[in-house]
Amino acid sequence: MGQLNIIITMVLTVVLNLQISFVLAHETKVYVVYLGKKTHDHPESVTESHHQLLRPLLGSKKEVHDSVVYSYRHGFSGFAAKLTESQAQQISQLPEVVHVIPNTLYELTTTRTWDYLGLSPGTSKSLLHKANMGSQVIVGVIDTGVWPESEMFNDKGYGPIPSRWKGGCVSGELFNASIHCNKKLIGAKYFVDGLVAEIGVLNTTENPEYLSPRDFNGHGTHVASTVGGSFLPNVSYLGLGRGTARGGAPGVYLAIYKACWSQIGCSAKGIHVVASAGNNGPAAQTIANVSPWILTVAATTLDRSFPTAITLGNNITTLGQAIFAGPELGFVDLTDPERPLSGDCAELRANPNKTMQGKVVLCFTADLNPTSMAVVNAVTAVSNAGGLGVIIARNPTYSLIPTPNFPCVMVDFELGTDILFYIRSTRSPIVKIHASRTLVSHHVATKVATFSSRGPNSISPAILKPDIAAPGVNIVAANRTGVVMRSGTSMATPVVTGVVVLLKSLYPHWSPAAVRSAIVTTAWKTDPSGEPIFADGSSRKLADPFDYGGGLVNPEKAARPGLIYDMTIADYVSYLCSTYYNNVSISQVLEKKTVCPNPKPSVLDLNLPSITIPNLKDEVTLTRTVTNVGPLNSIYKVMIDPPIGVSMTVTPDTLEFSSTTKIVSFKVRVSTRHKVNTGYYFGSLTWTDSVHNVVIPVSVRTQIFQRYYDEN
Ligand SMILES: *[C@@H]1O[C@H](CO)[C@@H](O)[C@H](O)[C@H]1NC(C)=O
Ligand SMILES: *[C@@H]1O[C@H](CO)[C@@H](O)[C@H](O)[C@H]1NC(C)=O
Ligand SMILES: *[C@@H]1O[C@H](CO)[C@@H](O)[C@H](O)[C@H]1NC(C)=O
Ligand SMILES: *[C@@H]1O[C@H](CO)[C@@H](O)[C@H](O)[C@H]1NC(C)=O
Ligand SMILES: *[C@@H]1O[C@H](CO)[C@@H](O)[C@H](O)[C@H]1NC(C)=O
Ligand SMILES: *[C@@H]1O[C@H](CO)[C@@H](O)[C@H](O)[C@H]1NC(C)=O
Ligand SMILES: *[C@@H]1O[C@H](CO)[C@@H](O)[C@H](O)[C@H]1NC(C)=O
Repeated sequence: MGQLNIIITMVLTVVLNLQISFVLAHETKVYVVYLGKKTHDHPESVTESHHQLLRPLLGSKKEVHDSVVYSYRHGFSGFAAKLTESQAQQISQLPEVVHVIPNTLYELTTTRTWDYLGLSPGTSKSLLHKANMGSQVIVGVIDTGVWPESEMFNDKGYGPIPSRWKGGCVSGELFNASIHCNKKLIGAKYFVDGLVAEIGVLNTTENPEYLSPRDFNGHGTHVASTVGGSFLPNVSYLGLGRGTARGGAPGVYLAIYKACWSQIGCSAKGIHVVASAGNNGPAAQTIANVSPWILTVAATTLDRSFPTAITLGNNITTLGQAIFAGPELGFVDLTDPERPLSGDCAELRANPNKTMQGKVVLCFTADLNPTSMAVVNAVTAVSNAGGLGVIIARNPTYSLIPTPNFPCVMVDFELGTDILFYIRSTRSPIVKIHASRTLVSHHVATKVATFSSRGPNSISPAILKPDIAAPGVNIVAANRTGVVMRSGTSMATPVVTGVVVLLKSLYPHWSPAAVRSAIVTTAWKTDPSGEPIFADGSSRKLADPFDYGGGLVNPEKAARPGLIYDMTIADYVSYLCSTYYNNVSISQVLEKKTVCPNPKPSVLDLNLPSITIPNLKDEVTLTRTVTNVGPLNSIYKVMIDPPIGVSMTVTPDTLEFSSTTKIVSFKVRVSTRHKVNTGYYFGSLTWTDSVHNVVIPVSVRTQIFQRYYDEN
């Protein structure tokens, strides 16, 4: 209840328009120390061993405690600590230390994502420059909080905090407002009351958390840095993915609202303006965040991969993917977990078996849950048993886990089976694993991720979801002071938020619907190099609007959409009235007297930048309205690509705009020639003035007979 109100308020308060100028500098330095050997002790003794390493150098126990920011336990051994350059130098001389690198407290997708999407600072005509890096905008990030020490939040070049900023920065556990907020990170608050009301007392022993804006989980830090992280030149993760890291709108001010708590959930659900599509793909009807006023984002791969060569004893080399820094391992013994194990990665943990000692282990997992611990558990089990590496065969497009010192290579089932056949074909199988490389290439196809939730929208089938797709796979992201590889639609969402921010700073008066329309109608239907986008799933197929909505977000084109499909509060009221709301309940929701039209409006007429007809019988006519935001005297002609077996007629078929005519409506008559109930067929409707192509996806399902649960 009251959700519509909150969302609209959020749009207004989250993006405020303010001016800044550039001055000032700032510095902190955190180093990540990689240790050669993995320790297998209890978590506390791992941390203690890291502390002991630093004691001789830093002196007191307290100084060590203050210095160590994070102890790593999964995948590799090491810790992050605040050090001077000379201390870092001294530590790197210790025998147990492999290397020491300045921390990678930022999100390395940004070393590739923005260039991939064509959003580069290169020319003065680019969207980034025209929008002045988003520098007039304050972005509110409602998530798990922030790890404020991240270099991506440094306020280098920022002037005084705008006087119009009325929000605050509050202190709390390990968060001191006067130190941790700065001229970029201008606001930070945490909301725990709603949560406490729901679950009773928040016991931070049971659910480790910071009672402050500090980010325990790491998710919010990632989101904030992807939306608005500052420029950081020449960064890499152990040499992989080198480039300049930045957020989509590097000049923004950030206001952090911690409303989501690790392992517990969010106390302010449903108020995101841009929300992720969910990670429950590839099955149909798995989409979350289905409301028409939310921009729902699907996740795709980038044109970047981390090929890692596996050479078998028969000298055949296959390419898997990993984040493995080397040095090269092998040749060493190779095994698949022997009986009584089945080769299932999950069993490695249940049956730690000494036969894995000194070997590389091949295992298979069918686990489709992207957040499952299957890979981490397999790495832990093999490494605990004294194994030297693991090769995991599984479905493609799941996140890679960075294991810099312990090779953990992903292959698909086909390659995994080849390796298994090799193992079975020889008395003493051996393998060599080479260090990972970074490959950025047009030869790497873009795919909608397996986990990315798919339409159709089961709650409001006439509203296309997802709206748009953005890169969200194998993203190296900040987790506190370390980096983790994350994949998820919530990795893709901040990419689109970054674009929204740039559009808002370019066109402050655009409504959320106008921004959404610009993004959807200009999206790429292919990858940026013109190759088709596929959708991963149980079988790979060409992507359709239920996989990626309008397509892959194209930031530069979104800044010049030509026409927009706009919506006002009245349209949202119409939508609610088209569902189960009546005069009474709509007034309650909007907290003011509101009247639903009679007869009920048709949801098909909602002015969305898409047409989705879930139950076409014979024919239907629907209306859309477009607003010219391009050159005044423009003439647009219609181009129709109807779905298979469907006819579409648009009247008028030419739209003439002038200084007085800015808004024009048109009608679309859609009829079916099918004789049976069908699945969805897809097409498009384009308005073009030969400069701008305003494309909306069309999805039509024929329903001659009453719908029933059809198993076939
Ligand atoms: C926060 O930092 C300021 C400035 O360093 C210091 O004066 C103050 O005592 C700190 N507050 C707390 C609660 O630690
Ligand atoms: C928090 O949980 C721990 C472990 O279950 C328990 O020992 C402690 O008493 C709890 N604290 C509070 C304040 O409830
Ligand atoms: C990030 O760090 C937190 C706290 O240590 C941990 O619970 C969480 O699992 C980490 N996230 C990932 C994806 O590794
Ligand atoms: C980037 O960093 C690497 C390693 O730290 C260094 O070798 C290289 O010279 C740097 N490149 C530039 C352009 O600064
Ligand atoms: C693999 O290549 C190496 C070096 O070229 C060679 O010595 C070895 O005999 C080859 N092994 C097989 C099984 O072909
Ligand atoms: C480990 O493997 C060996 C040889 O296959 C087997 O005899 C033994 O029972 C296994 N141990 C465990 C704990 O599964
Ligand atoms: C809502 O109220 C208006 C004005 O009283 C009335 O015309 C209309 O029929 C009502 N709508 C519904 C759905 O009851």
